[in-house]
Amino acid sequence: MKNFTFQNPVKIVFGKDTIAQLANELPKDAKIMITYGGGSIMRNGVYDQVIAALKGFTYIEFGGIEPNPHFETLMKAVEMARAEKVDFLLAVGGGSVIDGTKFISKAIRYAGDCWDVVVDPKAVSELVPLASVLTLAATGSEMNNGAVITRAATQEKYAMYGAYPEFSILDPQVLYSLPKFQIACGITDSYIHVLEQYLTKPDQSPLMDRWAEGVLQTLIEEAPKVMKEDPDYNSMANFMLSATMALNGFISMGVEQDWTTHMIGHELTALTGLTHGVTLAIVMPRIMDVLRKEKGDKIVQYGERIFHITSGTYDERIDETIRRTEEFFNSLGIKTRLSDYEVKEDVIDEIERRMAERGWKLGENRSVDAPVVREILEKSK
Ligand code: NZQ
Ligand code: ZN
Repeated sequence: MKNFTFQNPVKIVFGKDTIAQLANELPKDAKIMITYGGGSIMRNGVYDQVIAALKGFTYIEFGGIEPNPHFETLMKAVEMARAEKVDFLLAVGGGSVIDGTKFISKAIRYAGDCWDVVVDPKAVSELVPLASVLTLAATGSEMNNGAVITRAATQEKYAMYGAYPEFSILDPQVLYSLPKFQIACGITDSYIHVLEQYLTKPDQSPLMDRWAEGVLQTLIEEAPKVMKEDPDYNSMANFMLSATMALNGFISMGVEQDWTTHMIGHELTALTGLTHGVTLAIVMPRIMDVLRKEKGDKIVQYGERIFHITSGTYDERIDETIRRTEEFFNSLGIKTRLSDYEVKEDVIDEIERRMAERGWKLGENRSVDAPVVREILEKSK
């Protein structure tokens, strides 16, 4: 096991009708900015619950944060927050709104070019504290310090780190209004967050392995229940908690991590607009295939423990595990080939070019360079 330091400061308030608890959790004397997305919270009653809980608080609102939040949009919020002397941020939405609000939190008091806070880990300033009301189970942003920000002008999408919410409110009832496609993408994203931290090599930590396998198994069991027309509360709650546990640091203590699927996925989204979960479902099966020499032992463990694959040669077991993984994404209605989305050769060329220009060597073994990324994408066609 590798050395590690672990601290997760996020308070989670979980369960039915918990949005009302905002009144107890928010600082009484703060000037709050509520941030939200394209308006789903107006239609599903979440906005009304938030406003009811904020009776007596001082707040302003900033709406219109788009999926894959744009730096350009977020800078308008930064300017408004500076002008209004906002000193607390309340994100009400999915990963995009929470991520965007993490950026706002870092940027408000940053004196230089605010794009720096995304791309330069040394560009730090005092954070404006933030909290969230989560409306989409997927990213884990409600309990981690990461955010992914898109610069629309240059079609770039980068991860940044360093802003944890003070607290997050998770009421599984808010998930009922999600379109099935977003639920499918949320399940896929959560599942692949676990694989990014698990699918490296065996014998690092049996405890981390079993926690990770527990989240994978729960997602597989709950997926058909939450995809039903009329899902029950407990299934939604299990899905929501699984998504949080998939990316809050609890399953990565002392073990290697990969994240190649995400790095390639971000490029696909930046260049084509494909939804995050879809990009991951396309790329992950091909990474398992191309990197089978490095990852084979762990793939075999994953196949045996999650899909009960115990017969066949070593390579047959890997092939079957890849097939079952892809079949799971397909069972959610997510297609897993670039051609299903009409992504053309020029996108592959551009991703390869960017990887080469940045000199990135991805994966737990730093073995995934531009030519390997090309091979993965060629196999994803
Ligand atoms: O904008 P509104 O109107 O709210 O609609 C959203 C949006 O259109 C809608 N939605 C959200 N909650 C809803 C709802 N519709 C009905 N009922 C509800 N309860 O869903 C759409 C997608 O929302 P979005 O926030 O974009 O989805 P998600 O939570 O999947 O976030 C995706 C973003 O998070 C980043 C992704 O790259 C992407 O930019 N990620 C963030 C991570 C992190 N912070 O740790 C890790 C992830 O790997 C991921 O990269
Ligand atoms: Zn993700």
